Amino acid sequence: MTQRDIKAFVFDAYGTLLDVHSAVHKLSRELGPNAQGISDIWRTKQLEYSWLRSLMESHSDFWNVTADALTYALKYHDMEDQDLHAQLMSLYLEISAYQDALSTLKEINKYKYASLVLSNGSQEMLDKSLENSGLQPLLDKAISIDDVRIYKPSPQVYKLATDYVKCQPEEILFVSANAWDVAGANHFGFRVAWINRFKRPPEILPGKPEFIIDSLSELSQLYQPNN
Ligand code: 2OP
Repeated sequence: MTQRDIKAFVFDAYGTLLDVHSAVHKLSRELGPNAQGISDIWRTKQLEYSWLRSLMESHSDFWNVTADALTYALKYHDMEDQDLHAQLMSLYLEISAYQDALSTLKEINKYKYASLVLSNGSQEMLDKSLENSGLQPLLDKAISIDDVRIYKPSPQVYKLATDYVKCQPEEILFVSANAWDVAGANHFGFRVAWINRFKRPPEILPGKPEFIIDSLSELSQLYQPNN
């Protein structure tokens, strides 16, 4: 792939650039042995509620969906507690970037690709999380689904990126660690790199990654800038 082949790198946010489990890890002493279980159910329900609400045509923004999913996860573990809920939600705005996210974005910026985020996150939570993680100055734009009020993997969401860049879907390299998002993005027409950090099998869905790599830092090996 050369610089001419694509116009922009478009990144998923949660789970790709930002480590969604870092909020719970920061409170692991208070949460005790249930910490990992709470984090896993929190993420699973967050995604399920976003997809279910899209199908039900009953939109609520990702901040509310994330709060509802956390309520469920704490209930599931018999740990309902308003203070804990409030602390975890506030930590969600300070989740950590993966250790290679900053250097990867710096590398891409060197070669003058546009770098965008396209996320199910609400604009406010997205902006705060990207700012707190230090990634925001390295991005041209963070696009939220707020305006279309439906969640990825709806094609309406991926179209937000082609509309913004004013390009064809195949002129975007979409980068996600979420296999369902990889499928949705390629089904829309993006070229896709799957960051398969946890060595999972691919989803059995329409849409396939063109590249499968273990970490964000390997992204730079995929392109040969012609400068
Ligand atoms: C995103 O950032 C939910 O991780 C997904 O769009």
